[in-house]
Amino acid sequence: MQLDVVTLFPEWFEWFRSQRHVANALAGGHELRALDPRPHSPLSGRQVDDTPFGGGAGMVLRVDVMDAALRAFYDGVDPVELRAQRRVLALTPGGRMLDDAFVDELAAEPAVTLLCGRYEGFDERIVQHFASDAVSIGRYVLSGGELAAMVVCDAVLRKVPGALGHAESAVEESFSPALGGDPEYPHYTRPAEYRGWRVPDVLLSGHHAEIRTWRRARSRERGASS
Ligand code: 6GU
Repeated sequence: MQLDVVTLFPEWFEWFRSQRHVANALAGGHELRALDPRPHSPLSGRQVDDTPFGGGAGMVLRVDVMDAALRAFYDGVDPVELRAQRRVLALTPGGRMLDDAFVDELAAEPAVTLLCGRYEGFDERIVQHFASDAVSIGRYVLSGGELAAMVVCDAVLRKVPGALGHAESAVEESFSPALGGDPEYPHYTRPAEYRGWRVPDVLLSGHHAEIRTWRRARSRERGASS
C-alpha cells in the first residue's frame, strides 16, 4: 500500500522509516512518503498558517495552502475529488477514535493520505472538504498530528503481509477478532522461575489444547476488567 503523510516536519519520519518493521514493510513493496506542503505554498514567504478568525491562541493551517500542496502532490487533482480516489485522513483530536477494526479497514486500502495539523490544527474546511475521515488516537491533545500519524502508520503497517517476522504475529494479538476483541493473554519466557515467581504450570505442560483454553480465559479476564 501507499502511505503519504502531509507534514510540515517530514524529517520526523526519517527515524520512523528506519524502524525494523517499517523498513521490512517498505522493502516488501509498501511505500511511505513524507510530503511537505511548505514549498508548495502560494503565499509570500512560503507561509502555511495564520491566526484564527474570532481570536484565540495559536496558528491554524490554511485551506488554500493545503489545496495547492495536495494538487502539487497528486498531479493537479482537485483535493475534493482526491478523497473519492483514496482515503484521506485528517488527524485531529476530535476525530473518529482509532481502534483495531479501523486499522483493519485502513490496512485494506491501496492508498491512504494522512494530513497533519500543526499549532492549533487545521482550518475546518480542510477536514470538511479534503478529508474522507477525521481520525484521533485518544482523548488528549498532542501538539501536532505527526505522532498520531506515526501511530496510525505503525498500526496499519504491522497488519500488512511481510512487515512482521511471523505471519501469525498480527492475527492472534490484542483486540483482534481471533481473540474476540479482548486484549492479548500474558506471555512468559525463560527462566521458568525467577525470584520465586513461577511461570504458570500449564504453559510448561506441552498440552496445546489446555494452553489454548488457559490463554483464552486470561484474555477474557483482561477484556472484562478493562
Ligand atoms: Cl490525531 N492530533 C492531535 N494533535 N492530538 C491528538 C490526536 C491527533 N489524537 C489524539 N490527540
